[in-house]
Amino acid sequence: MNMGNRIHNFNAGPAALPLPVLEEIQRELVDYKGSGMSILEVSHRSKWFDDVINEAVERTKRLLGLGDDFEILFVQGGASLQFCMIPMNLALPGKQVEYINTGTWSTKAIQEAQILGKDVAVIASSEDKNFSYIPRDFVVNPDAAYLHFTSNNTIKGTQWGRFPDAGGVPLICDMSSDIMSRPFDPRPFGLIYAGAQKNIGPAGTALVIIRKDMLERVPDGIPTMLKYSTFAGKNSMFNTPACFVIYTISLVMKWLEEEIGGLDKMEMLNREKGARIYGCIDGSDFYQGTAAKESRSLMNVTFRLPGEDLEKRFVAEAMEEGLGGLKGHRSVGGCRASIYNATGIDGVSALVDFMKEFEKKNG
Ligand SMILES: Cc1ncc(COP(=O)(O)O)c(C=O)c1O
Repeated sequence: MNMGNRIHNFNAGPAALPLPVLEEIQRELVDYKGSGMSILEVSHRSKWFDDVINEAVERTKRLLGLGDDFEILFVQGGASLQFCMIPMNLALPGKQVEYINTGTWSTKAIQEAQILGKDVAVIASSEDKNFSYIPRDFVVNPDAAYLHFTSNNTIKGTQWGRFPDAGGVPLICDMSSDIMSRPFDPRPFGLIYAGAQKNIGPAGTALVIIRKDMLERVPDGIPTMLKYSTFAGKNSMFNTPACFVIYTISLVMKWLEEEIGGLDKMEMLNREKGARIYGCIDGSDFYQGTAAKESRSLMNVTFRLPGEDLEKRFVAEAMEEGLGGLKGHRSVGGCRASIYNATGIDGVSALVDFMKEFEKKNG
């Protein structure tokens, strides 16, 4: 693949998109499928856009093995709006809403449910160890309305390997930073959401997967644009949707299906990438991973060097070598390599080579 002057992009989000997707966008940008218009210019009420959104929905369902009991929605406001839409729509009178707190994003989700005055129970947290691990000991109240968790913690670099078992209580999951990175059994999930800008597209919408029975919970007394039922009833087009984002998502899903070959293959590649970079970290005293080994993320690899000055130099020198976005989140410092689906093994190998070289010079 000719990378031209593109860098290896390790940004956490917005993040790298597959090059074939960008090239396809470029090819059909000025005249979308003979319409004489760009996809940026066609009406969302046109056949062209109808085909785009339907393809995005169908491919998402096929990739995840979702049956007709699930609806796929595109909702603006990012993953952050979902933090409040979930309790607004899916809490049930007289029942607790349960949360597991594994970092910044879970904390924000919890805060929104509290602002809305819901009966919030945080049944587990890894805050005692600076959110460096995924908690395993918790008891789910069988009468709870739902259990919310964050499958991948973008900032702290932890990820649920095995999802929590909540019995019959519907799981609600923020999959913003690992959706489509691996297959999973969708049946225990009442709702899954993901800001698009990490693994499936550019910023501007959240992908929401909702089990149809959950729609029966939506109360009357909330504004139209905050109701899941509004989006479900209108194929996400009650108002003008984020057309270009949805178009890009449809191309990313096509790439996953037709070029990668599905989520089993995607997971294998992601495991290989993780093995290479964690192998480098574990084989060195210079780099220290910040997440507990059994909770490590295959999407966001967080690590430290011996000193902040070295970390600064590492990030700057990496950039000179065409390896960008390695600075840790501003709230935690250190370094972070986000290796989402679009980051190839070649990118990870280039990073590992650089890390070894940097250690040789500075270790
Ligand atoms: C796990 C997770 N949840 C939520 C968010 C917030 O997403 P948005 O900016 O789309 O609201 C992020 C963003 O980085 C994230 O990583």
